[in-house]
Amino acid sequence: MTADHGPAGETNWQPPIKENPLAEHRLRQLWEDYGDEEKFIYENTYIWLPETREMWQATADAVPALQPGALVVDMGIGPGFMTTEILKKSPGVKITGLDISINFLKQAQNKLSQVPEARENVELIQHDITQPWPIDSASVDAVVSNWVTQYHDADEQQRIFSEVARVLKPGCPFVMNSMVNKIPFGAVVSGIIAKANAAGLQENVANYIKNVPIAQKFGEAAQKGWAFNPTIEELENMHKKAGLKDFQVITRFVTEQEIPYLVVVRSLR
Ligand SMILES: C[S@@+](CC[C@H](N)C(=O)[O-])C[C@H]1O[C@@H](n2cnc3c(N)ncnc32)[C@H](O)[C@@H]1O
Repeated sequence: MTADHGPAGETNWQPPIKENPLAEHRLRQLWEDYGDEEKFIYENTYIWLPETREMWQATADAVPALQPGALVVDMGIGPGFMTTEILKKSPGVKITGLDISINFLKQAQNKLSQVPEARENVELIQHDITQPWPIDSASVDAVVSNWVTQYHDADEQQRIFSEVARVLKPGCPFVMNSMVNKIPFGAVVSGIIAKANAAGLQENVANYIKNVPIAQKFGEAAQKGWAFNPTIEELENMHKKAGLKDFQVITRFVTEQEIPYLVVVRSLR
């Protein structure tokens, strides 16, 4: 852990980042662009759109309170919102944040250095989560993930869930969300934007639209089959195949026709 001492003798703690230049994924550059604060202020736009914020909050709420010392993995930690919520709900837990993008890990580093509960309790690792994780088997008390798995194809998602099952201790939870039911990425984004407009968040929407070229690339990636948007049943089956049990849909976000397009789910090792 790093500990720099400032002039007033204060400790300017920052979570350490373990960089891994060999970590690669075909969408890595897109994630670096998305996490680049110069190009796209994720925190001030996307995350504050009401729908994405509700989803993120519902996911954080679905993580049970944990004992001090418990180890949590936030896979695809991004700028660290989920981790911040977990640290506040369960002070004293340890968090390992995995992410492919150095730009996002730097955002997490900045954000978490401002969170007192994070001090000495968080480490950040650059890693492609579709590859075996640098984490011991049966050593983790909870795995959480917000808005990550859907950017991977079906084989990759299966590999990710197998790693989740491998690292979790028996009986411990995995909480995640995903787009579901093949609702196209563009339709989900349009719905999110419409609700943000209705909520009077035009400025956020304008910022988001400014960055649509980056967002569109994800839509294109999805269309090329690079991303898998499962049915709820397919998602449950992938969890089961990985060795996870008691799959439960905790929250559903539905279209006007009442079809779920985003779900928060929890299963247990
Ligand atoms: C939409 S962001 C969500 C970030 C964060 N979970 C949040 O709630 O704000 C997706 C994150 O997943 C990361 N990611 C995507 N594919 C990955 C992979 N194969 N390995 C590790 N991280 C990945 C991205 O870099 C990005 O930080």
